[in-house]
Amino acid sequence: MKIDVLTLFPNMFNHIFKESIIARAIENKLVEINIHNFRDYSKDIHHKVDDTPYGGGCGMVLMAQPIFDCVESIKTADSKIILLTPSGIPYKQKQAYDLSKEKHLIIICGHYEGFDERIRTLADFEISIGDYVLTGGEIPAMVLIDSITRLIPGVINEASHLEDSFSNESLLDYPKYTKPRVYKNMEVPEVLLSGDHKKIEEYRYNESVKKTKQIRPDLLEK
Ligand SMILES: C[S@@+](CC[C@H](N)C(=O)[O-])C[C@H]1O[C@@H](n2cnc3c(N)ncnc32)[C@H](O)[C@@H]1O
Repeated sequence: MKIDVLTLFPNMFNHIFKESIIARAIENKLVEINIHNFRDYSKDIHHKVDDTPYGGGCGMVLMAQPIFDCVESIKTADSKIILLTPSGIPYKQKQAYDLSKEKHLIIICGHYEGFDERIRTLADFEISIGDYVLTGGEIPAMVLIDSITRLIPGVINEASHLEDSFSNESLLDYPKYTKPRVYKNMEVPEVLLSGDHKKIEEYRYNESVKKTKQIRPDLLEK
């Protein structure tokens, strides 16, 4: 998969994909990530990318031209374009799965007060990472890239993400333990030491349901 990110702050991406699983995915050519500064596409003599809002109001609004030109220079028939905005559809694991099957994603990061409304016509998806407002789309872009890349076949063991929270019947993940067997008087549940795989599977499923009921009952209502 190829992912192109449009941002005014490319340096924010300098380190994030150089560690761990995403770095390995890049090295193994399972994903290619390119960062574009859309200021480079501005036709303004001073490379201006934002201006005051028509009708008045506070803050600066990103202009259509640099973003349109940047998208048009990298878009192909396979591209899916994502606009990051707090007023987008809330991002969920299901969408991460769907996006991980695409060949080419273009992710547009906003900044300041947001976008000229006409930029929305470029987008196949408008995505919000949650009901709060960040200063820019760079962190949401990182969230998308990380969550999508780990689902690309070959990046991590498929069995491991099929058990993740939200993947399996909308349940949260079951509790996990590792050595030692007792820590500060807290014991690992006996069943996990039994070697009985059927019982262990049952225990984990029941614990998943219990935890989901306690913490995210809304997931079970669906
Ligand atoms: C300060 S925000 C603009 C907020 C805008 N005035 C509003 O209320 O919708 C600047 C940019 O950060 C990004 N952003 C901020 N919060 C976000 C969120 N929860 N999900 C996705 N993108 C977000 C978007 O790209 C947005 O255009």
